[in-house]
Amino acid sequence: MLPNYRLALSPMAGVTNSPYRRLCQEFYKEAFYVGEMVNARSLIENNCKAKKMVVFSKKEKYRSLQIFSKFPDEIFEVVRKIVAENIADHVDLNFGCPVKKITQNGGGAMILTNLDLYKDIIQAAVLAAKKKVPITCKFRIGTDEKNQTYIQAGEIAEEQGCSLVTLHARYMKQMYKGQADWSKIADLKNRLSIKVFGNGDVRDFKDAKRMFEVTGVDGIAIGRAALGKPWIFEEIAQNLGWKTNKYYPKNYFDLKKIKQIVLYHTDMLIEYYSDENQAVKLLRKFLIWYFKGFSIGSDMRMKLVRVANLDDVKYLLKHLDEDK
Ligand SMILES: Cc1cc2nc3c(=O)[nH]c(=O)nc-3n(C[C@H](O)[C@H](O)[C@H](O)COP(=O)(O)O)c2cc1C
Repeated sequence: MLPNYRLALSPMAGVTNSPYRRLCQEFYKEAFYVGEMVNARSLIENNCKAKKMVVFSKKEKYRSLQIFSKFPDEIFEVVRKIVAENIADHVDLNFGCPVKKITQNGGGAMILTNLDLYKDIIQAAVLAAKKKVPITCKFRIGTDEKNQTYIQAGEIAEEQGCSLVTLHARYMKQMYKGQADWSKIADLKNRLSIKVFGNGDVRDFKDAKRMFEVTGVDGIAIGRAALGKPWIFEEIAQNLGWKTNKYYPKNYFDLKKIKQIVLYHTDMLIEYYSDENQAVKLLRKFLIWYFKGFSIGSDMRMKLVRVANLDDVKYLLKHLDEDK
């Protein structure tokens, strides 16, 4: 059974690794914090990188993993492995990836152009899961305006035994551009009995409130607004009047606080990767996100993307002016 969460950290490759999921979770516990998509074949073959991607911290309360493949037999095998080796508590299937490298071979969001294949993939996952881990899926409206498959995709997912679907309300051809069409999310919610999460363009608690009101969804998945803002789930919960662990006053997350969070995040990355250079390299893009909106100067931003080790991070943080 899936927990009754109403928020999710949307899976993001290169971002939603264990340290970042944990960090978000330390601010707000009651949400799905979904890992970056993992190639089913790589995991079946015990590829080192894939194996590392599915390592969860003991401090992660609920382990949500996202996998992808266009081959039902691979999906069957990988879900069987996840269950047998107790790798995760929940498996999400990715049908939304718009990246050319994947779609040009019929994978990712292109799978929805072949609904029989889509059905076979879900069926394989549900069969292998043997009701031990819930299966959910995430898809887009369709490839373009002429090929809108989201209603069929939702209905098939429901028929096949998925517990929840997430609709990223964009077309494949839009990639991440243009505005998400929330009316499609409302449509899907009206058509299904299983849970529906809405996704696309929720930037703050006001958007979240509006998405709940406009679409009637069971929950919301947040992607880009969580970049460098791991407390966004807590902020939404607090402003929507939900039960939270701690009250954060307005403007609590100032430069001084963010510097502390960055150091904590850096420590977690180093601990997780057991490799300071690799961890700090991964931190670079987060540094840009953390300090977005602060007038720290372009020179400082250039230095932030070049940090090579923990000492560099500490040095730069020390020289960030807290009055800014
Ligand atoms: C850097 C990045 C990586 C992403 N990786 C994945 C992924 O691995 N799996 C997936 O289903 N979606 C992925 N997405 C899509 C997001 O999960 C989300 O659907 C999309 O960003 C729209 O939500 P937003 O408007 O809240 O950002 C990625 C998005 C970004 C920006």
